[in-house]
Amino acid sequence: MSALPGSPEGTAVTGLDSSPVEPAPLDLPPLTEQTRLEAREIMARYPVARSALLPMLHLVQSVQGYVSPEGVTLCAEELGLTKAEVGAVATFYTMYKRRPTGRHLVSVCTNTLCSVLGGQRIMDALSADLGVHHDETTADGSITLEHAECLAACDYAPVVTVDYEFYDQQDVESARVLVEALRRGEKPMPDRGAPLTDFKGISRQLAGFSQYGNDDAAARAAIDAPGALGPTLVGLRLAEERGESAPPMPRPATPSAAADEPRETVRPSGRTGETPGREAADARVAAADTPAEKAGAAASHPDAPEPAGRRLPDGREGTDTPAGTEPGTSGQGPGKA
Ligand code: FES
Repeated sequence: MSALPGSPEGTAVTGLDSSPVEPAPLDLPPLTEQTRLEAREIMARYPVARSALLPMLHLVQSVQGYVSPEGVTLCAEELGLTKAEVGAVATFYTMYKRRPTGRHLVSVCTNTLCSVLGGQRIMDALSADLGVHHDETTADGSITLEHAECLAACDYAPVVTVDYEFYDQQDVESARVLVEALRRGEKPMPDRGAPLTDFKGISRQLAGFSQYGNDDAAARAAIDAPGALGPTLVGLRLAEERGESAPPMPRPATPSAAADEPRETVRPSGRTGETPGREAADARVAAADTPAEKAGAAASHPDAPEPAGRRLPDGREGTDTPAGTEPGTSGQGPGKA
């Protein structure tokens, strides 16, 4: 089946939104010479200019609220890429938006843990209140709503982010209050991290520029914003109360690690003829929890049989590849004996 970008078949095959890019809205702010200069400033940060594409796409979003056709053209021109290459990157990552984003991007985690604790109920309630579905923007342009996969804050589930700032342990009611405040133009403090700005502001930050301009106090407050870390540390605090600690990790028996290891940390085995490296390998095998870990530890044990293919037919150890012909070598190595 052919799966052309922009075709229903493409969406069916890839599962990705391959809808055509819509025409730019009439009131879209233009990308200016200043944008181009800032794009070049980003490029100058990287040894290879095309590595700058991701922050450049955020820069485009910080001006226009999405990756517009004009933004794709600017990135392609500056980086010497084709528009198709830029488009391929911009459509791969969900942080790059294909339609103009509202003043705030509200992301509701509906992944497993958040979902069982009410994330889907929050998504459904906000969707009904705002009259929009996933990846749609309210008519007043204040909110773009999206459901998100795990937002890497499962200990605070269910979580909602606004412009990637966290609002933890939400429920339907608190999420409604949050979104109503956003629609009134308020910026409720996130539970952790920096104070809220807006989608274009955080896009500028992601491009590597301060979203606070010359407002040094705001920039300092963003860095120093407190974080409670309560749920993240619950396990540690319980362990402390109970006097529990994690068992020590077996150390790798690499020559350098063995050389660095203080003598007194090597446990005597009570057996003769064994080296510290062999003891450590024994310990790794004994400590392995799963069959796969056990197999891996056994394979790296000094007593493990030589893997097939490491011994040449004439009994010599080594590789069949003639010296100097390995990929990536100069060919100036020692010749064949
Ligand atoms: S499942 Fe929601 S943050 Fe991980």
